[in-house]
Amino acid sequence: MGPSRSPRPPPLVLLLLVLSLWLALGAGDSPPTESRFVNSCIHARKKCQADPACKAAFHQLESCTSSAGTALALEESTMSADCLQATQQLRNSSLMGCTCHLRMKHKATCLKIYWTVHPARSLGDYELDVSPYEDTVTSKPWKVNLSKLSMLKPDSDLCLKFAMICTLNDKCDRLRKAYAEVCSGFRCQRQLCLAQLRAFFEKAAEPHAQGLLLCPCRPEDVSCGERRRNTIAPSCALPSVVPNCLDLRSFCRADPLCRSRLLDFQTHCHPMDVLGTCATEQSRCLRAYLGLIGTAMTPNFISKVNTSVALSCTCRGSGNLQEECEQLEKSFSQNPCLMEAIAAKMSFHRRLFAQDPVDDPTASVIQQQKNNPAPRPQPRLPVLSVFILTLLLLQTLW
Ligand SMILES: *[C@@H]1O[C@H](CO)[C@@H](O)[C@H](O)[C@H]1NC(C)=O
Ligand SMILES: *[C@@H]1O[C@H](CO)[C@@H](O)[C@H](O)[C@H]1NC(C)=O
Ligand SMILES: *[C@@H]1O[C@H](CO)[C@@H](O)[C@H](O)[C@H]1NC(C)=O
Repeated sequence: MGPSRSPRPPPLVLLLLVLSLWLALGAGDSPPTESRFVNSCIHARKKCQADPACKAAFHQLESCTSSAGTALALEESTMSADCLQATQQLRNSSLMGCTCHLRMKHKATCLKIYWTVHPARSLGDYELDVSPYEDTVTSKPWKVNLSKLSMLKPDSDLCLKFAMICTLNDKCDRLRKAYAEVCSGFRCQRQLCLAQLRAFFEKAAEPHAQGLLLCPCRPEDVSCGERRRNTIAPSCALPSVVPNCLDLRSFCRADPLCRSRLLDFQTHCHPMDVLGTCATEQSRCLRAYLGLIGTAMTPNFISKVNTSVALSCTCRGSGNLQEECEQLEKSFSQNPCLMEAIAAKMSFHRRLFAQDPVDDPTASVIQQQKNNPAPRPQPRLPVLSVFILTLLLLQTLW
């Protein structure tokens, strides 16, 4: 008997079948957020790594910033010649204009790259300190089921209604329960609570998060106002001993994430005049404001009777920096851009529940969303089946 070739083992087939199912279920989809904005620092670093000179300069700068401490601003005078040369070298690179996204994957890596190359941007007169986060606001339309909305008790206040909208959405509900769990009463664990609050505002759909926090109340409705103030579980999330505002800011700046969020707020909630015109779009200011919740500088509504907000800190004991401290305090509590942005969002939320929202172009997203459901990704199973069948056929021929 001649030696017969042993039949091919089946694991290959199994593997392919598993792979095809995995792809068909969409697990192979690349995350959309990162590719949608071209200027990501992660992408820019990849480009830089491909160029030996850029790669070396970046590497050099990494050691400069780490030896100077994580988030301390490097002064030109205190920089070594090697570090200065590296910053010069990088000024022509793609890293110069790179940004991060509040909701991207690998956020921490992106911010680390941003702050590493930051000295190259800020030394000399290249540009003023700007937010690490991209400027544009791409808001997704509401995905609220109108028939579910009509099931809500008609006489409940709007903050309760927005809380119920969150509950009706699996993701929002899960993320809200996650922070409620670690932020509530005797189970309060402040650091965990802050982390879960950040997770909520990063991961829940923006309309859900904004609806929950920036819900409108009638002026006399204190239980609504109380609910709104308690949205972020202030008794756990905010410090029990009120710190000095400048100390709080120093503490925040020592942490890359908090530092980035604060700079984002300062960039985008910057009032241009007393009327409340913002330096950029109002919606961008709100995104920056919500980005601070869960950091050391978490702001909140100060009372149940109005929509004034403030940081949980005091300017007592600021010594000769009293004025600087009050400015910081006022950038939250008396910021016309922020106040206008909050008022506009609340009135938008009020109109969503108005009897006749059809006249309002901003509210039409709901109707539109209802009529045009988001396109579903096409299943790729047929193509893959053909591919697998071809492979199986080839195998029988071997
Ligand atoms: C940067 O680019 C400019 C013009 O493109 C060029 O003149 C200059 O030599 C470049 N500098 C470095 C350090 O590569
Ligand atoms: C909206 O909610 C209603 C009531 O729960 C349900 O019957 C309907 O299928 C939902 N529609 C969509 C598009 O999810
Ligand atoms: C909001 O209410 C608080 C507490 O009653 C008060 O101190 C603050 O001045 C009010 N804000 C406005 C804008 O009226």
